[in-house]
Amino acid sequence: MNSLTFEQCLSDFQGECFRSVDFLTPFVLLAVLFGVGLWSSWRNRQAFRRARRHGFIAGFALLLSAAVTMGWFYLFDPGTIHGVETPPLSQAIFVTAATAFGAGLFLTVGSAFYALGGAVAKSIWGKAHYRGLTRGLVIAIDGPAASGKGTLAKKVAAHFGIPCLDTGLLYRAVARDTAASGGALDDAAAAVKAARSLDPATLDDHSLRGPAAGDAASVVAKIPDVRAALLEFQRAFAHRPGGAVLDGRDIGTVVCPDADVKLFVTASAEERARRRHLEHQGRGEAVSYDQVLADIRARDARDSGRDIAPMGAAADAVTIDTTTLGPEAAFDAALKVIEQKRRAAPPS
Ligand code: DC
Repeated sequence: MNSLTFEQCLSDFQGECFRSVDFLTPFVLLAVLFGVGLWSSWRNRQAFRRARRHGFIAGFALLLSAAVTMGWFYLFDPGTIHGVETPPLSQAIFVTAATAFGAGLFLTVGSAFYALGGAVAKSIWGKAHYRGLTRGLVIAIDGPAASGKGTLAKKVAAHFGIPCLDTGLLYRAVARDTAASGGALDDAAAAVKAARSLDPATLDDHSLRGPAAGDAASVVAKIPDVRAALLEFQRAFAHRPGGAVLDGRDIGTVVCPDADVKLFVTASAEERARRRHLEHQGRGEAVSYDQVLADIRARDARDSGRDIAPMGAAADAVTIDTTTLGPEAAFDAALKVIEQKRRAAPPS
């Protein structure tokens, strides 16, 4: 009778085991990636999309660089590939490139499975769920003039596909309409009348841009009834079904104290004056840097020193200092904060 030794059994078993592991492992990993894609898309569609994009980019980059390296050997040092004796360094590089190619291939196929999971999640839960994820996402961005908060607010709003309100424009328009009615900017009755009859359709008026309109706005903004008249419009905007981004001075503290995310964007007065000064120069206006800096400081003092709704960071706001950050870096920092907050309090 033919009997197997223990060692033979063990080696047969191991052989069997490894064969099945080799065959199964990639499928198990791909199934896991599919599940992760399903789950992550259900949790947060924005984060899912970013991860999917990064996965594909990394996979393709690995594939491409490995293919170029292997191609080089194929053309110029084919001995390495055919096993002919070649320097160990060449062999090591070739093996590394071949491994990277495998990893890139797996990452690309894995990203495809991850994406497939996301697509399945979307078809199961439907668009309503994703609308629900962003429903009521209110992002408040406050900060002083020329801190970069306006640019940041627009970028954040575009990223989440929600509307953005530059609330400074409301005060600028009130100042414009007050002056147009013949009233002085500190004439409370005239300014309140202008605020109550403000037509939001006139906010894209070009004359509202620039520091002069901002300084005028800062004067009418000190009047409590002007602020009260503009409050409802801002709150209604914030509570649109899809959520909104609002930027200003008192969004996190007064207009939307219940905002999901509050950012306070700031920068040193000198840096803000430098940015403003560049804008003046770009328009061919002869204003000295010192004058711009003095104006910035005066506006800061007026906005943060007023009795009602002074400019300031809410207690639960996260400050982003853009003194040394460009618009993209500030956007990345903001996105990180927003994703963290959303993870900490996921939509129900
Ligand atoms: O953000 P901005 O520079 O366009 O604002 C112009 C002025 O409007 C600002 O100096 C103060 C006032 N403002 C305010 O008091 N509250 C807001 N939420 C927005 C602007």
